[in-house]
Amino acid sequence: MQFFIDTADMTAIQTAHDMGLVDGVTTNPTLIKKAGLDHETTIRQIATITSGPISVETISTDAEGMIKEADTFLQWGSNIVIKVVMTPEGMKAVRALSSRGIKTNVTLVFTPLQALIAAKSGATYVSPFVGRLDDISTPGMAMIQQIRTIFDQYQFDTQILVASVRNPVHLLEAAMIGADVATVPPDTLMQLFQHPLTDSGIAKFLADAAAWTAQ
Ligand code: G3P
Repeated sequence: MQFFIDTADMTAIQTAHDMGLVDGVTTNPTLIKKAGLDHETTIRQIATITSGPISVETISTDAEGMIKEADTFLQWGSNIVIKVVMTPEGMKAVRALSSRGIKTNVTLVFTPLQALIAAKSGATYVSPFVGRLDDISTPGMAMIQQIRTIFDQYQFDTQILVASVRNPVHLLEAAMIGADVATVPPDTLMQLFQHPLTDSGIAKFLADAAAWTAQ
């Protein structure tokens, strides 16, 4: 399973990249706003850190506007993926962009049938949001399992990119199901390192090594 990092924070991206944990980056208008720089500057800076796919989200509501934005975004880096929302106009844009060989990521997906629509339109990635479904008492990971079954059954190339990841259990379940990618917030990524037995093991090794060198 590939790890994308779900942030526009340059320090967080660089830190994760240095540990070999950034296969790609996903952004959205909320994450760009949080990072505090303008859209183009942010994406261009991210492109200097990673050669992996960078999802850049369109904000137009019509296909023509989305395609126009895509043509601008594609000049910001060689690894740009055009993120489009799950609407009829969005799917028109995905079809047009994919016919030109441009990679797309369909976002705000909340049902397996929306994922099926995105795959039929030719999306490179589909982004089902697990955390936001959990928030409304609907099991997000059940949707991932259903999408996996559908995509395998019909041999779609569209990659399942698990989004709205909130905790390590989401990642474990995504990996067990066989999701292609999970996009992970920096805090959740750092949680993956944590185990009390790792901490106590390090403390004991260091204590023993100090006693050993003192001999
Ligand atoms: O990239 C979009 C998605 O991951 C957002 O997550 O936590 O705002 O639901 P969240």
